[in-house]
Amino acid sequence: MKVGFYQFSPVFGEPKKNLEKIVEQLLKCDADLVVLPELAFSGYLFIEKKEVLTLSETIPGPISDTLREIAIKKGMTIVTGFAELNSAGGDKAYNSAFLVTPEGDIKIYRKNHLFHEEKLFFEPGDLGFPVFTVKGVKIGLLICFDHFFPEAARTLALQGAQIICHPSNLVIPFKAQLTTRTRSIENKVFWILANRTGSEVRGDKKFTYSGLSQISDPDGRIMVQAGELEEGFFAVDINPELAKNKSITPLCSLFQDRRTDIYQI
Ligand code: ACM
Repeated sequence: MKVGFYQFSPVFGEPKKNLEKIVEQLLKCDADLVVLPELAFSGYLFIEKKEVLTLSETIPGPISDTLREIAIKKGMTIVTGFAELNSAGGDKAYNSAFLVTPEGDIKIYRKNHLFHEEKLFFEPGDLGFPVFTVKGVKIGLLICFDHFFPEAARTLALQGAQIICHPSNLVIPFKAQLTTRTRSIENKVFWILANRTGSEVRGDKKFTYSGLSQISDPDGRIMVQAGELEEGFFAVDINPELAKNKSITPLCSLFQDRRTDIYQI
């Protein structure tokens, strides 16, 4: 199975331009699963709620329709972060990710751990930590800051997730490149960290995104990593079956040896 990510620098407030750039890349890439960054169409650095509502969209919507067509045409699974407008109406938006399968099925995850001023603009996730099965492989989604919470990855892994797809807009350098390798080791899963690069300046605010997207294997080895400033598509071949083996030694299993009788969490 070939899995990859597209690291790039979305332009704030230009969803059409960002979609065009993503489509151009997706049509060129050869992979079974491709992961894009968090909020890949809207950009990240919102300064008022009105902008969030203008730049978010429902599922289905033009963005999901376009990516769905590509997933079907190329026989590929695509995971992307996006600003989701609540399809039930009202003024609620979520920092979400969707997964679209080669059959055209769309599954949503809504970020459970909102970072910093995201709390002013987005509703916290209300869909739990779902795991989706695509062509027999179990896939879980997390978004950026979720990586700080080991419970999030564990919850996905305990449901059988073999690959964790992690759209991100990382602003605190170097941490996620370490934590996600650790999460790979402690859960024995593959991890696709799809970060963005570039900077955004809005009013008196500025964020610089740290790049260094990477894929780690169930032993925490980095299989491929992008540069800090680089834009591009990166992919590796993986065997997702390896993530089913939770043994550390013939007598130790990461999951069977858990002492749930004594943990408080
Ligand atoms: C983040 O959660 N985008 C830092």
